[in-house]
Amino acid sequence: MPQTGLLPRRPIQPSQRQPFLRGERVDLRPLQTEDVDGPYHGWLNDYKVTRFLETGAFPTTRAALEQYVRSTAQHPDNVMLAIVDRATNAHIGNIKLGPIHPLHRRADVGIIIGDARFRGKGYGRDAMELMLDYGFERLNLHKITLGVYADHEAAVKLYQQLGFSIEGTLKEHLFRDGQFRDKYVMGLLREQYEARMKRRDRRR
Ligand SMILES: CC(C)(COP(=O)(O)OP(=O)(O)OC[C@H]1O[C@@H](n2cnc3c(N)ncnc32)[C@H](O)[C@@H]1OP(=O)(O)O)[C@@H](O)C(=O)NCCC(=O)NCCS
Repeated sequence: MPQTGLLPRRPIQPSQRQPFLRGERVDLRPLQTEDVDGPYHGWLNDYKVTRFLETGAFPTTRAALEQYVRSTAQHPDNVMLAIVDRATNAHIGNIKLGPIHPLHRRADVGIIIGDARFRGKGYGRDAMELMLDYGFERLNLHKITLGVYADHEAAVKLYQQLGFSIEGTLKEHLFRDGQFRDKYVMGLLREQYEARMKRRDRRR
C-alpha cells in the first residue's frame, strides 16, 4: 500500500479527551488529527459557518485539514484547542491562540463555534474567557488581538463584552457576498483584562 503519511481513521481515544482548560459550559482540549473525521471537516465547507471567516472561500479536503492540524500542533507559537460541550463531550468548535510573539508578548485569537445548535448560548463566551485567562495568566501575555468583519455584529459584541476595543478599521479589506467589507482590528491589553477580572470577581 502506498505511504501517504496520513494517520489511519480512528476515533478519539479516552486519553485524548483530557481537558486542558475547564470552563462552565465547555472544556478546551488539544485538537487532534482524529478530530478531522468528526464534525470539524464539515464546518469548513459549510458557508453558514465560514461566512465571516477568512477560511472557506476555497474547499477544504480531509487531507489538507489533517495536514493543517498536524502542522499547527508542531508549532509552539500556536495553541489550538477543541471546544467540547461539557454535558455531552461533543466537539462543537475550535479556538486558537497564535501566533504568539515572544518578544512583544502578544498573540492573536480566533474562534469558531461550528455546531449551530450551540451558538447564542454562551459557549463562545465561555471558551473565549478560558483562552484569555490562559493567555494572560499562564503565558504572561501583554496583549491579545483579533481581526473581525466590521459587520459581524454577534462577534464584535462578544469581543467588546470581553473588554476588546476597536483599534482600527481596515477599509474594504475583505471581500464577502459580492462586496468589499471593512475589517476591525481589535485589541485587549493586560490592564483592560485585569480591570474586567476585578469587576467579575466583585460580582461573584
Ligand atoms: C461569533 C461566535 C464565536 C459567537 O459565539 P456564541 O457562542 O454564539 O456567542 P455567545 O452565546 O457566547 O454570546 C456571547 C455574546 O455575544 C453576542 N452575541 C452572540 N450571538 C449574537 C447574535 N446573534 N446577535 C447579537 N449578538 C450576539 C452577545 O453580546 C452575547 O452576549 P449576551 O448573550 O449576554 O447578549 C459564534 O457565533 C461563531 O463561532 N460563529 C461562526 C464562526 C465565526 O464567525 N467566528 C468568529 C469570527 S471573527
